[in-house]
Amino acid sequence: ALPPAFTAPLPAPSVLGPVSTSDGADRYEITQREATLEVLPGISTPMWTYGGTFPGPTIESRRGRPVIVTHHNELPVPTVVHLHGGRTPPAHDGYPTDLVLPAAWSGHGQHARSHGMADARAVVTDTRRAYEFPLDQRATMLWYHDHRMDFTAPAIWCGLAGLHVVRDDVEDALDLPRGDHEVPMMIADRAFDADGRLAYPALDPTLTGEPGVTGAYLAGVLGDVILVNGAPWPVHEVDTGVYRLRVLNGSNARHYELEAVAENGRPLPLIQIGADQGLLAAPVRHERLPVAPAERYDVLIDFGGVPVGSRVRLANRLGTGRTADVMQFHVVRRGARARIPDTLADDLPEWSRSRATVTRDLAFRAGRMNGRHGWLIDGRPFDPGRTDITTRLGDIEIWRLVADVHHPIHLHLVGFRVLSRGGAAPLPHDAGLKDTISLRPGESAEIITRFDGYRGRYLFHCHNAEHEDMGMMANLEIV
Ligand code: C2O
Ligand code: CU
Repeated sequence: ALPPAFTAPLPAPSVLGPVSTSDGADRYEITQREATLEVLPGISTPMWTYGGTFPGPTIESRRGRPVIVTHHNELPVPTVVHLHGGRTPPAHDGYPTDLVLPAAWSGHGQHARSHGMADARAVVTDTRRAYEFPLDQRATMLWYHDHRMDFTAPAIWCGLAGLHVVRDDVEDALDLPRGDHEVPMMIADRAFDADGRLAYPALDPTLTGEPGVTGAYLAGVLGDVILVNGAPWPVHEVDTGVYRLRVLNGSNARHYELEAVAENGRPLPLIQIGADQGLLAAPVRHERLPVAPAERYDVLIDFGGVPVGSRVRLANRLGTGRTADVMQFHVVRRGARARIPDTLADDLPEWSRSRATVTRDLAFRAGRMNGRHGWLIDGRPFDPGRTDITTRLGDIEIWRLVADVHHPIHLHLVGFRVLSRGGAAPLPHDAGLKDTISLRPGESAEIITRFDGYRGRYLFHCHNAEHEDMGMMANLEIV
């Protein structure tokens, strides 16, 4: 039986303290390990965790101040850490074959190869790895998650995901809601079996051999329980002030369309102030906000018109039955009035079409891969040994993306602007600087970006995590 809605309090993910802040960088340690958590009330669920919790601990950092996170792998499988949305040098970006081996595996590469884990280009290092993040980028909320070759989806599903907030002076100057008025929200669906274990339809339950999921789940794995920060359909007590909700869709495949509804049935606007890669130029009001896997939306919500004692439901208009609910806000006291700024950031890149040197067409469609159903980019499944696109550092490019079904397309390293969608102007939620664009079924879209930062090999892929594991990923070499 599923737990009742709106009884569990919304957890606040713990913020990780640095082990040192000397020599110009903040250093952190995270042990990846199995832990038994109480996700559903009174039920034990074994999970894979960053540091024993789900979500993993949040890292808070400042723009331009390097962060070094040493991950220790005490899980039964190899892992790879990727900081999603980070402007990270290639050696630290969590390439799918740059494995951190389990501490239980001694003998390193030998063992990895006998498990079919390492391809020719794999960098088999150690059972721990120090990932270095320069974080020379706009303030925003990133997230870190596993990115292992062929098994990203089940690893995230088992719990390997956490938040990473970057702050800067531009954002500080706006005096946005902070402290307990700033609420990180990792929304993620999961399914549980009768014993309380996470249910995942992997072809290979050891998650080391054959990748992919069983037939009924080829479109992506959905759960029937909606978690926010690891709690099912939680409730959060608020006052009548303005709150900043920092929303991540951390689901493998589920899309949401969020709507806040007061008890009188009146919708409360979700006032978007930021996208995946930081603040917008000006707020955008949404009555309904679509959120695809891996997208982040920074939104303000004003409970000022809501009577104390009443409740505001955060609904998912794409859900049915229980998945039509996400969480609830319970307005319990009067709060201070707060001003919502009219303008936000003036540092958004404005890349004009005329400055683009290359226009590429990329098709994201179903197809065959190793005799099975797969998900392909331009007819090909991912191959870590192949360079799919070569671009020059500093070049501005337009990519025209087309999809058969829903595909949230993510580029590593860079942020991009949406130029058009379906041949028309972008949608309101395409505003700002993005790193993931939700292509709707049959839709095409144009994005524009400048490939700057670092030279080297990066990825772009569908962030429906099952699509990613079943081939929908490609290599981008910046030269
Ligand atoms: Cu959030 Cu390549 O991933
Ligand atoms: Cu996809």
